[in-house]
Amino acid sequence: MIQRISILLLTMVLLAGCPPKSSNGVRNALLEGKELLIIYTGNTFGELKPCGCDKEEEQGGIERRMSYLKSARTANTLLVDLGDNFKEATRQGKLKAEYLTDSMLRMQYDAVTLGEKDLVYGNKFLRDLGPVPWVSSNIALEGISLPPYRIKQFASGLKVAVLAVADADLFYASPDSNVKVGDALHSVEKILPDLIALEQPHLVVLLSHMHREQGLQLLEVAGVDVVINGHIETDADQIDMTPVVKGQKIFVQPGPLGQKMGELRITWAAGGSKVYDQKMVRLDAKVPFDPEMARLYEEYNAKVEDLFLASLAEKRRKKTAPVYATEKTCLTCHAPAHQAWAASRHGHAYATLQKVNKSYDPECLICHTTGFNQPGGFISEIDTPGLKNVQCEMCHGPRLQHSQAPRGGFAHLAVQACQRCHVPKHSPKFNYGRYWPRIQH
Ligand code: HEC
Ligand code: HEC
Ligand code: HEC
Ligand code: HEC
Repeated sequence: MIQRISILLLTMVLLAGCPPKSSNGVRNALLEGKELLIIYTGNTFGELKPCGCDKEEEQGGIERRMSYLKSARTANTLLVDLGDNFKEATRQGKLKAEYLTDSMLRMQYDAVTLGEKDLVYGNKFLRDLGPVPWVSSNIALEGISLPPYRIKQFASGLKVAVLAVADADLFYASPDSNVKVGDALHSVEKILPDLIALEQPHLVVLLSHMHREQGLQLLEVAGVDVVINGHIETDADQIDMTPVVKGQKIFVQPGPLGQKMGELRITWAAGGSKVYDQKMVRLDAKVPFDPEMARLYEEYNAKVEDLFLASLAEKRRKKTAPVYATEKTCLTCHAPAHQAWAASRHGHAYATLQKVNKSYDPECLICHTTGFNQPGGFISEIDTPGLKNVQCEMCHGPRLQHSQAPRGGFAHLAVQACQRCHVPKHSPKFNYGRYWPRIQH
């Protein structure tokens, strides 16, 4: 689905053919017919590639983002990112952050601002990422130079200024004391007049990293034409991508997890007034994979396998007494239930991962095996071959004792188990009434 909005707003200064008087107006009149395409992303949250748990809903990933960019980008394109690209403070999270940034460097972004999530690995990590076109008008990071604004001069003659601010309150929880975040509004109001006088940009784009309501207020700032706002808290966040127009100004937001690309097309009409055309482009199965990004993803995947193999030694050392009886034991007394299970997709969940070369990715094993990262649970195919797949005990709980001395009274508890794995991100269509009959036993 494409959300589209077109707005034509003519400036009121053009009374009875009088030429605009201000120097700004004269400059703007020369813009008639010029075009700019702003492509905006953000809130990617480490999502290098969608998991593929729901084929129809599958969207996003660097492979599709790059091929979209290769076809959508023109000489008049400004590519910006709103931050919150990183996610969890784990080694795998850090690896994803490195690869995501690497992909963005190859995509040649014009400006990237920072969200509080992007500080999760500290300043040194950010500095070592390479020549990312960071921009922030109110964040100071020890050891990194963050330009307060960036200017892009197009061959068409168009000159665009990009500023960025973040909400200081979002950063309070940051454990990193080498970060200073000033007041957002105050910082823009301080920088903008001088910037306009010095650079005389035709368009001022403000990237804001904050809650929607706060970002919207920045539209009021004199001199700002476009506000693009980003921020995500959890991967289940619903983000309102509807643009807001106020006079000649516009406010837009990228969606979650890199699933869609924001496109804001600006054309200058007679007298310098702007016409906005905004849409969100789904990075779904119709968008092909870019081969360079596919190779980069494979490289990441191989590193995840290395991390997984390296973690095995410790897991083996810490291996505890068994707590799961395994499905083979349940089979001995519950043959009909076992038959239904073996025929269901729960009974093949590990093979599903093998088919997509993901059977050593902890982020997938957690829902596609039995007890991964739990005491007595799945470690690897070699260590715990009996704990592959979503077994009986993922829903009925560890039942070693029950299988030795059977007693009932716990079947009803299994109804609560579904929601641990059938979360919106991985199973958006889940509905107990419709799903249970498919695995009934
Ligand atoms: C939070 C739990 C969870 C995690 C984490 C998870 N999955 Fe899934 N996966 C599911 C569920 C639930 C389904 C079934 C969804 C449905 O049909 O509603 C599924 C289905 C799938 C399917 C089958 C799609 C189809 O239609 O045939 C694939 C492939 C898959 N997952 C791959 C992965 C990969 C790869 C990862 C790691 C990157 C992963 N999953 C992580 C829960 C998870
Ligand atoms: C430990 C995680 C986990 C739990 C708990 C879980 N599921 Fe699943 N479920 C999965 C995974 C993973 C798949 C996809 C397996 C595959 O195709 O590889 C799946 C697939 C399914 C499917 C097949 C979907 C389809 O499109 O045909 C149904 C139905 C289903 N689950 C129902 C349930 C119900 C009902 C519950 C709770 C009683 C439940 N699941 C609990 C992980 C889980
Ligand atoms: C995806 C979750 C899930 C898996 C996997 C699962 N079950 Fe169940 N099981 C349930 C639910 C939910 C119920 C029904 C609970 C209710 O309605 O009270 C149930 C009911 C049962 C019952 C009671 C049936 C009755 O007539 O009262 C038995 C026995 C049982 N399961 C055994 C098994 C065995 C054995 C396996 C593995 C071979 C298994 N289950 C796998 C979720 C699961
Ligand atoms: C040695 C035989 C035996 C084994 C092995 C066994 N069960 Fe049972 N199971 C029973 C018997 C007998 C009952 C009925 C107990 C009762 O109603 O008091 C039962 C009942 C159940 C019930 C229904 C509980 C209820 O609330 O009525 C579930 C669910 C269940 N078993 C799951 C499992 C699972 C999962 C495994 C494997 C981990 C397993 N059983 C292994 C014999 C066994």
